This record gives sequence, C-alpha cells and structure tokens, in this order.
Amino acid sequence: MSDVIIYSPYDHAMHEDPYPTYGLLREKAPVYCNDTLDFWALTRHADVYTAGRDYTTYSNSHGVSLELWSPDIAKRQSFIAMDPPNHTQFRALISRAFTPRRVAELEPRIREITRSYLHRVLDAGGDFDFIADLAQSIPADVISELVGVPAADRQQILRWSNESLLREEGSGAITASSADATLRLMGYYGQLIADRRAHPGDDMVSALIAAEIDGQRLSDQDIGAVLLLLGVAGNESTTKILGNAWYQAARHPGQRSIAFQPGRVGNWVEETLRYDSSGQMTVRRVTRDVEWHGTVVPAGSRLLLIFAAANHDPRVFPDPETFDLERDTSRTIAFGTGPHFCLGASLARLETRVVLEELVAAVHENYGVGMPVRVHHPNIHGLRSLPTTVKPR
Ligand code: HEM
Repeated sequence: MSDVIIYSPYDHAMHEDPYPTYGLLREKAPVYCNDTLDFWALTRHADVYTAGRDYTTYSNSHGVSLELWSPDIAKRQSFIAMDPPNHTQFRALISRAFTPRRVAELEPRIREITRSYLHRVLDAGGDFDFIADLAQSIPADVISELVGVPAADRQQILRWSNESLLREEGSGAITASSADATLRLMGYYGQLIADRRAHPGDDMVSALIAAEIDGQRLSDQDIGAVLLLLGVAGNESTTKILGNAWYQAARHPGQRSIAFQPGRVGNWVEETLRYDSSGQMTVRRVTRDVEWHGTVVPAGSRLLLIFAAANHDPRVFPDPETFDLERDTSRTIAFGTGPHFCLGASLARLETRVVLEELVAAVHENYGVGMPVRVHHPNIHGLRSLPTTVKPR
C-alpha cells in the first residue's frame, strides 16, 4: 500500500497543509518507505513516542536532517547529532542555562523586549507584518542576550539564520545562498569566540570557553557548533510557532474568542503546538534490523519520526483536525521525546505565552490577517510573512 502514497518533505504544495498526507501515512502506511529519497517514516503516536526514546536502536549519529546526513555532522550540529554518553556530557554543559528556574527568571526581560517591539508597531498605526516586524525579533533578542551576541549584530544574525533554511524544491538540496549564510554564521561565531577568549564576560560563550569535558577544554569548533545549534533552534521554531498561533486563531474566530479570554493564552500555545507545530519531524539512523507493523526496516536506514503526524493521531486526540483550545493536549509530542527532548522547551513556551499575553492585553480580538507567505523547509513549518491589522485597545 505504501507505494501508492507519495510523501516528500520537500514538496512545497504539501507544506501548505501536510495533515491529510500524514493521515494517509498513519492509517494506510504506518511504516512508510520512500525509495527515491531513501527514507522510512513513522507517523503513529505510539510508534513515534517509542522510537524517540530508544536511542540505541534509533541513533542521532548522522544528524537529524536528511539533507545534511553525515557521520561528521556533529562538528556543525553539536550535541543534537550525538548519542549518549557524549550527548549527555555536552548537553549537561548547556542545560544549566535552560533549567525551568533559570528560564522563569527571564520572564520580566522577555516582557520588556516584547513591549518595545509591540509599541513600535502599534505607534505606527497597527498595520504590520506579524513575522518580520514583531515575532522574529523577540526570540532572536532573547537567545542573543543569553549567548552574548551584541545588540548591533542581531538583525544580521537573523537574516543569515532565515537564509540558512533555504532548500531546493523537490530534491531538498541546500541552496548556494543557504550554504553561504551558514558559513557566515560560523565565521561570525568564530570571531565572537575569539573575542570572548580575549575579553571574558558574563555570558554563555565565556562559560563554554571555561567549561571542561573529562578534563578537556572545548575547541572553537565545538563551541561554534553549540552556538549555531542554539541560534537556529532558538530563533526559527519559536518565531514560527508565534506566527502559527496568530494565523490559526484568525482562521478559527470561535477559538480566538476563547484565546482572548483571561488566563487562556496557555491553552492557545499548547493547542497550536499540537495542531500546527513549527517543528514537524526528526530523523534517526536505524542501528539494527527492526520490525514495525510486519515490515522490516533494515539497519542503516534513515527513519523519520513525524511528530506533527503523531499529534494528529485520532487514537490519542479525538477529532484531531479540529483546532480546539478546550482539549487535553498533555500527550502532544511537539518537543520530541527521549534524551533529545528539546532543551529550549520551557523557554519556547515562556516566550510564546508572554508575546501572546502582551498582544491580548494590547489589541482587540477581531484582528485581521492578509495573505501569508510560507517558509519551505522539511522540518520547520511556518510563515515568513503574515500581514496583520490590529486595533489597539
Ligand atoms: C516552539 C518552539 C520549538 C520547537 C517546536 C522545538 C522542537 C524541538 C524538537 C522536536 C527537538 C527534538 C529533536 C530530535 O529529537 O531530534 C528539539 C531539540 C532541541 N531544541 Fe528545540 N524547539 C523549539 C524551541 C527551541 C528553543 C527556543 C531552543 C533554544 C534554546 C531550542 C533548542 C533545542 C536544542 C538545543 C535541541 C537539541 C536537544 C538535544 O539534542 O539534546 N529549541 N527541539
């Protein structure tokens, strides 16, 4: 059956609404094989959850993206492309900055940053691009402050980060401008590390320079890869979840009324993570022959775990294609499962909640949205541009 369903994560038309395709895979081809693009895919909630936790059978050793698949990719993608025990040691160094308590302490600063961007667009009349003029700057400022990127360089970093996501339609090949933007980001971080070696400060780069694993200091390449991972992960998926929340509420005015009621922003965030997440999937390398639903997936295969399909599985979420802020979202797998569970999940949730709370406080519920422009990427799902019109309260 799986040969009659065509699923490609590089299909631009599919990106508009991937959920019908995911539904076909989940029901008709729960272990799907795409011979042309050389991958397998799991889509059922129970399967994605189970495979995500079994890191010995489903390894991150070749990274988490089909188009950058390589045994050396940890040099660029850091600990997301490692397995325990290396992964555990690296992650421990960074996770100190992302404990729920440390993250909660950032709330006043996130609110301050949000208000400054929001006042700017409201003072200009309330017609603005939700992504370019508001959503993308907030996670970028927050992660830059954590890492230690000077304010003057942040817009440039953001442009490179956006550019680095570009892929060819159909093949998924990295475009020349994407490769160039990634090189520029790496060059920038290399200079930042050199600067902090000469002038240590109270930021993450300086802390990483001073850190040790098994008595060894990290190399510039190790630190640069961490900064690249945090920069791209920290900016892109949070910007896109904000856009998805704003867009989906506009498409579902009944739910938007609930979202704008006191104390309901948390439900808005969680249902957006389930219904239209900014992170669609990940990839693992299968280390031994495994059998799923009577089909053997051979050792060495590339296996997609499609979180966004799992989050629409009717076995777990009744009436999954309905955007419903009243539902139980506790089993959503938007941030992954197992040892690679998103390090920034608390931060992403906090940023999204704060920005939406500030919007709810500042503007009327019946805002309008114009024609959205989508980002085309196999994993990152969201908008590059979303014109919006708001009426200040
Ligand atoms: C709504 C926003 C976000 C979503 C949907 C998201 C989603 C994910 C997912 C699904 C994974 C697991 C990938 C895998 O198993 O292969 C992951 C890992 C990761 N995320 Fe996020 N993320 C978000 C925001 C952030 C932020 C704000 C940061 C910044 C600090 C961040 C940093 C990371 C890192 C460092 C990892 C790798 C963890 C590891 O390998 O141990 N993410 N994220």
